[in-house]
Amino acid sequence: MSGRVVVVGSANMDVVTRVARIPRPGETVTAESLTAFPGGKGLNQAIAARRAGAATVFVAALGADEHGETLAQVIRAEGIDDSAVRRQEGPTGTAFVTTEASGENNIVIVAGANDALRGLTDGDRALIAAADVLVCQLEVPDSVVHQAIAVARASGTRVVLNPAPVRTVPAVVLADVDVLVVNEHEAQHLGVRDLRVRCVLTTMGAAGAELDVRGSAPVRIEARPTVAVDTTGAGDTFVGVFAADVAAGAGYEAAARRAAIAASLSVESHGAVPSIPTRADVDAAMAAPCHAAPT
Ligand code: RIB
Ligand code: NA
Repeated sequence: MSGRVVVVGSANMDVVTRVARIPRPGETVTAESLTAFPGGKGLNQAIAARRAGAATVFVAALGADEHGETLAQVIRAEGIDDSAVRRQEGPTGTAFVTTEASGENNIVIVAGANDALRGLTDGDRALIAAADVLVCQLEVPDSVVHQAIAVARASGTRVVLNPAPVRTVPAVVLADVDVLVVNEHEAQHLGVRDLRVRCVLTTMGAAGAELDVRGSAPVRIEARPTVAVDTTGAGDTFVGVFAADVAAGAGYEAAARRAAIAASLSVESHGAVPSIPTRADVDAAMAAPCHAAPT
């Protein structure tokens, strides 16, 4: 049982430094390491969906540089449909990520080619119409996100929106969203309690998640105990796995439980893309007695 997921969104090269503690403004610290990892919310979500078993299409823009070439190879190697990935003059999106020993991070983004993804081609529209689930985030211009959601709504493709990095989403767009996936910060910023949206899925890190299908009592999704070394991409892993399972016919609650386990696995290793688990990894974690925390 496998569904079709289309992700419209960003691809970045993540330039990651590891530090004992994230510096305060004006402070200088020395890093323990410097590594480049494939990332970007869109690419992370596409890879999470693909590794969860979905036939996955990625609509994105890469730069005409070495990072763009590297990311193009990663997309192909994952078995993601890259027919809607364009190459753009100028640099590929870059994220400067600082991760500290606690597992927390902060990120500065240079949009690069992601900013050129402003509209959909007829081919993109056909791919969205043919999918079971569309996934969008907000690392690409609003114009393309809004178009993609409208095409999905008109063609019966389910819409999962992860409004990250957070900014206001017009009510007319939210009206076409099936599931809004937010973290607690985004939930607060958007005032999700008062939003007119069909379903809100709030991720709460180590505290799990909450599924709120409007009109029904909220359902708590337990977290699997874990020791976080790097939370970069955990939210994206959650979104991609959730979308893959919904595309394959799972209910929201079952899909969210798998997504929460996948996210907990992703925080146990470094980097966004390298830490995204496969379907087999998630199955193994679900079968493990009491989801024991590593020691
Ligand atoms: O959500 C994590 C991602 O955000 C990173 O991979 C980085 O590229 C930033 O876009
Ligand atoms: Na990680």
